[in-house]
Amino acid sequence: LLNSYNKIAPIYSIISRLAFGLAIEKIQKQLIQHLPTTGNLLILGGGNGNILPLIYLRAPEINIEYLEASSSMIKSAKLKAPKNQKIIFTHTDQFEIAKSNADLIYSSFFWDLFSEKDIRDNLQIIEKQLSLKPTWFVADFIINKNTKFQFFRKFQMKVTILFFRIFTDYKLKTLPDIFTSFDERKYNTLKNSTIRGNFIAYKVLEKL
Ligand SMILES: C[S@@+](CC[C@H](N)C(=O)[O-])C[C@H]1O[C@@H](n2cnc3c(N)ncnc32)[C@H](O)[C@@H]1O
Repeated sequence: LLNSYNKIAPIYSIISRLAFGLAIEKIQKQLIQHLPTTGNLLILGGGNGNILPLIYLRAPEINIEYLEASSSMIKSAKLKAPKNQKIIFTHTDQFEIAKSNADLIYSSFFWDLFSEKDIRDNLQIIEKQLSLKPTWFVADFIINKNTKFQFFRKFQMKVTILFFRIFTDYKLKTLPDIFTSFDERKYNTLKNSTIRGNFIAYKVLEKL
Protein backbone atom coordinates (compact mmCIF):
# COMPACT_ATOMS: atom_id res chain seq x y z
CA LEU A 1 0.00 0.00 0.00
CA LEU A 2 1.11 3.55 -0.70
CA ASN A 3 2.76 5.31 2.23
CA SER A 4 2.31 2.52 4.76
CA TYR A 5 6.02 2.91 5.63
CA ASN A 6 5.76 6.67 6.18
CA LYS A 7 5.41 6.36 9.96
CA ILE A 8 8.54 4.31 10.40
CA ALA A 9 10.62 5.92 7.63
CA PRO A 10 12.53 8.27 9.99
CA ILE A 11 13.51 5.42 12.32
CA TYR A 12 13.92 2.61 9.78
CA SER A 13 17.73 2.50 9.98
CA ILE A 14 17.67 2.52 13.79
CA ILE A 15 15.12 -0.30 13.93
CA SER A 16 17.06 -2.37 11.44
CA ARG A 17 20.31 -1.93 13.41
CA LEU A 18 18.62 -2.72 16.72
CA ALA A 19 17.11 -5.88 15.30
CA PHE A 20 19.94 -7.15 13.09
CA GLY A 21 23.07 -5.14 13.92
CA LEU A 22 25.04 -4.24 10.81
CA ALA A 23 23.97 -7.39 8.93
CA ILE A 24 21.55 -5.63 6.58
CA GLU A 25 24.18 -3.10 5.52
CA LYS A 26 26.80 -5.84 5.21
CA ILE A 27 24.78 -7.97 2.78
CA GLN A 28 23.71 -4.90 0.76
CA LYS A 29 27.39 -3.90 0.38
CA GLN A 30 28.33 -7.42 -0.71
CA LEU A 31 25.51 -7.60 -3.25
CA ILE A 32 26.21 -4.14 -4.70
CA GLN A 33 29.80 -5.24 -5.45
CA HIS A 34 28.33 -7.56 -8.11
CA LEU A 35 26.54 -4.78 -10.02
CA PRO A 36 28.04 -3.98 -13.39
CA THR A 37 29.33 -0.42 -13.66
CA THR A 38 27.00 0.54 -16.51
CA GLY A 39 23.41 -0.27 -17.49
CA ASN A 40 19.83 0.52 -16.50
CA LEU A 41 19.08 -0.47 -12.96
CA LEU A 42 15.54 -0.74 -11.61
CA ILE A 43 15.34 -0.64 -7.80
CA LEU A 44 12.18 -2.07 -6.22
CA GLY A 45 11.17 -0.69 -2.81
CA GLY A 46 14.49 1.06 -2.34
CA GLY A 47 13.52 2.46 1.06
CA ASN A 48 15.34 5.37 2.71
CA GLY A 49 18.16 5.50 0.18
CA ASN A 50 21.00 4.14 2.34
CA ILE A 51 22.03 2.01 -0.64
CA LEU A 52 22.37 4.95 -3.04
CA PRO A 53 25.85 6.19 -1.98
CA LEU A 54 27.07 2.56 -2.05
CA ILE A 55 25.73 2.08 -5.58
CA TYR A 56 27.31 5.36 -6.65
CA LEU A 57 30.71 4.27 -5.30
CA ARG A 58 30.47 1.04 -7.29
CA ALA A 59 28.76 2.34 -10.44
CA PRO A 60 28.62 6.15 -10.77
CA GLU A 61 27.49 5.94 -14.42
CA ILE A 62 24.61 3.51 -13.94
CA ASN A 63 21.08 4.82 -14.73
CA ILE A 64 18.68 4.21 -11.86
CA GLU A 65 14.88 4.04 -11.72
CA TYR A 66 13.84 4.01 -8.05
CA LEU A 67 10.35 2.62 -7.34
CA GLU A 68 9.18 3.25 -3.79
CA ALA A 69 5.72 3.21 -2.22
CA SER A 70 6.45 5.58 0.68
CA SER A 71 6.71 9.32 0.08
CA SER A 72 8.75 9.75 3.30
CA MET A 73 11.21 7.09 2.19
CA ILE A 74 11.56 8.86 -1.18
CA LYS A 75 12.17 12.19 0.57
CA SER A 76 14.95 10.64 2.63
CA ALA A 77 16.40 8.82 -0.41
CA LYS A 78 16.54 12.09 -2.38
CA LEU A 79 18.66 13.59 0.41
CA LYS A 80 21.01 10.60 0.41
CA ALA A 81 21.46 10.34 -3.37
CA PRO A 82 24.88 11.69 -4.41
CA LYS A 83 24.58 14.90 -6.44
CA ASN A 84 25.64 13.45 -9.79
CA GLN A 85 23.81 10.13 -9.49
CA LYS A 86 21.61 9.47 -12.53
CA ILE A 87 18.35 8.61 -10.84
CA ILE A 88 14.61 8.96 -11.36
CA PHE A 89 12.30 8.47 -8.37
CA THR A 90 8.79 7.07 -8.83
CA HIS A 91 6.27 7.04 -6.00
CA THR A 92 4.22 3.91 -6.62
CA ASP A 93 3.16 0.58 -5.17
CA GLN A 94 2.48 -0.89 -8.61
CA PHE A 95 4.95 -2.64 -10.84
CA GLU A 96 4.46 -0.07 -13.61
CA ILE A 97 7.59 -0.80 -15.46
CA ALA A 98 6.20 -1.30 -18.96
CA LYS A 99 8.30 1.54 -20.33
CA SER A 100 11.39 0.51 -18.43
CA ASN A 101 14.49 -0.51 -20.32
CA ALA A 102 15.97 -2.12 -17.21
CA ASP A 103 18.60 -4.77 -17.72
CA LEU A 104 19.33 -4.97 -14.00
CA ILE A 105 16.88 -5.22 -11.08
CA TYR A 106 17.85 -4.72 -7.43
CA SER A 107 15.62 -5.61 -4.49
CA SER A 108 16.84 -5.95 -0.92
CA PHE A 109 14.51 -6.81 1.95
CA PHE A 110 11.60 -6.17 -0.37
CA TRP A 111 10.15 -9.57 -1.27
CA ASP A 112 9.70 -10.45 2.42
CA LEU A 113 6.64 -8.18 2.24
CA PHE A 114 4.84 -10.57 -0.11
CA SER A 115 3.42 -14.08 0.20
CA GLU A 116 5.08 -16.76 -1.90
CA LYS A 117 2.14 -16.67 -4.33
CA ASP A 118 2.34 -12.88 -4.60
CA ILE A 119 6.09 -13.08 -5.21
CA ARG A 120 5.53 -15.52 -8.08
CA ASP A 121 2.61 -13.48 -9.48
CA ASN A 122 4.51 -10.20 -9.27
CA LEU A 123 7.58 -11.75 -10.89
CA GLN A 124 5.35 -12.88 -13.74
CA ILE A 125 3.89 -9.36 -14.06
CA ILE A 126 7.40 -7.87 -14.16
CA GLU A 127 8.74 -10.47 -16.60
CA LYS A 128 5.84 -9.83 -19.01
CA GLN A 129 6.44 -6.09 -19.12
CA LEU A 130 10.17 -6.08 -19.74
CA SER A 131 11.57 -6.51 -23.20
CA LEU A 132 14.98 -7.60 -21.90
CA LYS A 133 15.71 -10.46 -19.50
CA PRO A 134 17.31 -8.55 -16.67
CA THR A 135 19.84 -9.82 -14.16
CA TRP A 136 18.37 -9.77 -10.65
CA PHE A 137 20.19 -8.75 -7.48
CA VAL A 138 18.21 -9.95 -4.46
CA ALA A 139 19.05 -9.86 -0.76
CA ASP A 140 16.74 -11.06 1.98
CA PHE A 141 16.16 -13.26 5.00
CA ILE A 142 16.23 -17.00 4.68
CA ILE A 143 15.36 -19.67 7.23
CA ASN A 144 15.85 -23.26 6.16
CA LYS A 145 17.45 -26.46 7.39
CA ASN A 146 20.92 -24.95 6.94
CA THR A 147 20.17 -21.92 9.12
CA LYS A 148 22.07 -21.93 12.41
CA PHE A 149 20.22 -21.17 15.66
CA GLN A 150 16.92 -21.77 13.88
CA PHE A 151 14.81 -21.47 17.00
CA PHE A 152 16.31 -18.06 17.81
CA ARG A 153 16.08 -16.86 14.19
CA LYS A 154 12.40 -17.84 14.02
CA PHE A 155 11.77 -15.95 17.24
CA GLN A 156 13.69 -12.92 15.95
CA MET A 157 11.58 -13.01 12.76
CA LYS A 158 8.35 -13.29 14.76
CA VAL A 159 9.20 -10.16 16.76
CA THR A 160 10.18 -8.28 13.59
CA ILE A 161 6.98 -9.32 11.83
CA LEU A 162 4.90 -8.29 14.83
CA PHE A 163 6.55 -4.85 14.76
CA PHE A 164 5.79 -4.41 11.06
CA ARG A 165 2.22 -5.69 11.50
CA ILE A 166 1.64 -2.99 14.12
CA PHE A 167 3.34 -0.07 12.36
CA THR A 168 2.84 -0.82 8.65
CA ASP A 169 0.15 -2.71 6.79
CA TYR A 170 2.28 -5.87 6.84
CA LYS A 171 -0.06 -8.83 6.32
CA LEU A 172 2.07 -11.97 6.63
CA LYS A 173 2.51 -14.09 9.74
CA THR A 174 5.69 -15.89 8.73
CA LEU A 175 8.65 -15.27 6.49
CA PRO A 176 7.99 -16.33 2.88
CA ASP A 177 10.49 -18.59 1.15
CA ILE A 178 11.73 -15.90 -1.21
CA PHE A 179 14.51 -17.69 -3.06
CA THR A 180 12.43 -20.83 -3.63
CA SER A 181 9.73 -18.61 -5.15
CA PHE A 182 12.35 -17.36 -7.62
CA ASP A 183 13.41 -20.95 -8.34
CA GLU A 184 9.79 -21.82 -9.07
CA ARG A 185 9.66 -19.07 -11.70
CA LYS A 186 12.74 -20.70 -13.27
CA TYR A 187 15.63 -18.46 -12.31
CA ASN A 188 19.22 -19.58 -12.45
CA THR A 189 21.61 -18.56 -9.66
CA LEU A 190 24.77 -16.88 -10.94
CA LYS A 191 26.23 -15.93 -7.57
CA ASN A 192 25.14 -16.36 -3.99
CA SER A 193 26.35 -16.00 -0.46
CA THR A 194 24.94 -15.96 3.05
CA ILE A 195 25.90 -14.35 6.36
CA ARG A 196 24.86 -14.83 10.00
CA GLY A 197 24.80 -18.63 9.74
CA ASN A 198 22.63 -18.77 6.63
CA PHE A 199 20.03 -16.31 7.98
CA ILE A 200 20.61 -13.49 5.48
CA ALA A 201 21.41 -14.20 1.86
CA TYR A 202 21.95 -12.62 -1.50
CA LYS A 203 21.62 -14.08 -4.93
CA VAL A 204 22.40 -12.80 -8.39
CA LEU A 205 19.87 -14.46 -10.69
CA GLU A 206 18.96 -14.68 -14.34
CA LYS A 207 15.69 -15.85 -15.86
CA LEU A 208 16.09 -19.08 -17.77
C1 LIG B 1 11.52 -3.35 4.39
S1 LIG B 1 11.75 -1.93 3.42
C2 LIG B 1 13.30 -2.26 2.65
C3 LIG B 1 13.99 -1.03 2.16
C4 LIG B 1 15.32 -1.23 1.42
N1 LIG B 1 15.12 -1.96 0.19
C5 LIG B 1 16.38 -1.88 2.26
O1 LIG B 1 16.99 -2.85 1.81
O2 LIG B 1 16.63 -1.39 3.37
C6 LIG B 1 10.59 -2.19 2.14
C7 LIG B 1 10.31 -0.94 1.33
O3 LIG B 1 9.48 -1.31 0.22
C8 LIG B 1 8.50 -0.29 0.01
N2 LIG B 1 7.38 -0.92 -0.70
C9 LIG B 1 6.43 -1.75 -0.21
N3 LIG B 1 5.62 -2.19 -1.20
C10 LIG B 1 6.06 -1.62 -2.34
C11 LIG B 1 5.67 -1.69 -3.72
N4 LIG B 1 4.64 -2.46 -4.11
N5 LIG B 1 6.37 -0.98 -4.62
C12 LIG B 1 7.42 -0.20 -4.25
N6 LIG B 1 7.85 -0.10 -2.97
C13 LIG B 1 7.19 -0.80 -2.04
C14 LIG B 1 8.18 0.23 1.41
O4 LIG B 1 7.64 1.53 1.37
C15 LIG B 1 9.57 0.16 2.07
O5 LIG B 1 10.27 1.37 1.93
